[in-house]
Amino acid sequence: MKKITIQTYANIALIKYWGKRDKKLFLPTKSSLSISLPYLKTSTTISESNTDKIVGINTGIQNVKKFLNLFRKIYQIKKNFKIETTNNFPTAAGLASSASGFAAIAKGLNKFCNLNLSNKELSILARYGSGSATRSIQQGFVLWNKGDYNDGSDSYAFQIFDQNFWPEFCIIIVIINSDQKNISSRQAMQITVNTCSFYKNWIHKSEKRIPKMLQAIKTKDFTTVGKLAELDCLQMHKCMKNSFPAINYWQKQTLQIIDFVKNLRKQKIHCYFTIDAGPNVKIICLKKDRAKIINNLLNICNSSQIMFN
Ligand code: PMV
Repeated sequence: MKKITIQTYANIALIKYWGKRDKKLFLPTKSSLSISLPYLKTSTTISESNTDKIVGINTGIQNVKKFLNLFRKIYQIKKNFKIETTNNFPTAAGLASSASGFAAIAKGLNKFCNLNLSNKELSILARYGSGSATRSIQQGFVLWNKGDYNDGSDSYAFQIFDQNFWPEFCIIIVIINSDQKNISSRQAMQITVNTCSFYKNWIHKSEKRIPKMLQAIKTKDFTTVGKLAELDCLQMHKCMKNSFPAINYWQKQTLQIIDFVKNLRKQKIHCYFTIDAGPNVKIICLKKDRAKIINNLLNICNSSQIMFN
């Protein structure tokens, strides 16, 4: 029996995506920019089946089923699939498992059905599963251009710099809680779009950070990259907290790690943080400081809570 296996990687947004202008087509309100994390891997195996069978994904089987129906409709495919997924990291806890998950399914279906889709087409296909999956089709620094067309044909992600461009740049992940989140990012972002009074202001400011972030990455200006990422993340979470009902993904230890990062900066160890739809904190740093940061982290966390490349 034909079986294919695909590996993809999670990504962390340095400039965030949070909110859709079109829920059906997964069109974002703004552009976003991410870096892929080669140590957060998803492996997906696809084979044919009598009915759709989804194994190992706990980010919403219904979402995967909807995605498969859409895929069959768009590409006129008459098959059902067995999709088996494994991650080497906790799923649905704000570590972008839906990003690498749907990117793997899109790439896997493309290969299984011999569609020969381009990276642009794959990115658009992955977008129908999860917005952030749009950016996990490729590695390195990736920009998801929000696009302007109503049909979504110009809303896809492309690689800006590959995974070897800035080897010094690294992200340390501090896992605070690996349980599934109590509200999905899909629901939470729509609440923010509908109810946060200053959401439009964030979109406007965040969109303007994209060219600044691109320039900072290009020139390897670590301080500017870190500052822009931290500010964008803080403003996104401020929008969530000012939604109704208020959305809060942070836990006690999230605040502790934020303080930890700020204290390291006072000691002239350059690092910044970013947080997604979960309590876990990602520390942005340069490789030369990584060991120092991890040693300090071990005073307040267990080694099992720390992931890095
Ligand atoms: O793709 P989703 O629905 O899991 O949304 C992801 C949203 C954030 O992770 C919070 C930000 C981002 O740009 O990845």
